[in-house]
Amino acid sequence: MSRNAADNGKIPRHLAIILDGNGRWARRRGLPRLMGHRAGLRKLEEMVHLVKREGIRYFSVYAFSTENWNRPKMEVDGLMSLFRFYIRRKVEAIKAEGARIRFCGRNDKLPPDLLEQMRWAEERTKDETVLDFILCINYGGRAEIMDAINAMMKEGHEGPVTEEDLRRHFYLPDVPDPDLIVRTSGELRLSNFWLWESAYSEFYFTDIHWPDFDETALKAALENYAERERRYGGLKL
Ligand code: FPP
Repeated sequence: MSRNAADNGKIPRHLAIILDGNGRWARRRGLPRLMGHRAGLRKLEEMVHLVKREGIRYFSVYAFSTENWNRPKMEVDGLMSLFRFYIRRKVEAIKAEGARIRFCGRNDKLPPDLLEQMRWAEERTKDETVLDFILCINYGGRAEIMDAINAMMKEGHEGPVTEEDLRRHFYLPDVPDPDLIVRTSGELRLSNFWLWESAYSEFYFTDIHWPDFDETALKAALENYAERERRYGGLKL
């Protein structure tokens, strides 16, 4: 592998990953889908450490979308149990990394005990400042925009809506837009992730299934990003 991306100062401030391919990873091994999600969860634990080491300040992952409720009940229940397990067993280790856990998405439909655990994890890690680790669960970009509009209407917002008005009503208004969005497992789409926030994000796609995404794969994504020239609609100088 060539130079470390950190060397040239072009590390994304906010890295977002669409965790895809757990099911295919499991199928290849003749395992149930849930085993793929378990392997994906283990990978996520490892990645928090690696991402922090790279000097990234915000790390968000798309773990469950507003559309994922349409999956078979057994898989949805299994994922909810995994989220519970993760929060119960891993919060202290994440805190020890200096990471603040934040959840992003709608609260409706999530089991009340899970919601309670989520709030507890946020509270427990709220003073950590090295990394914001953002778990997008029951998240959808369209839902976020609709929720922001509805919140403004409820407040009796008058006059034209500005971008800033809308942003203030997003789930995590203080989090900067993702600089780099990675999607694993070969699909070339955004699937309703960070819909508004990705206007000027860079995209990186890899065929690697999420449970196989490792340090080398992360470095390859970051090195690729470091070579991009971001112009935000402006001219090349
Ligand atoms: C997509 O793979 C993955 C998911 C829908 C779930 C991702 C969840 C985890 C990795 C567990 C993370 C746990 C926490 C606490 C965030 P897929 O099922 O769509 O795979 P496929 O496209 O190969 O079928």
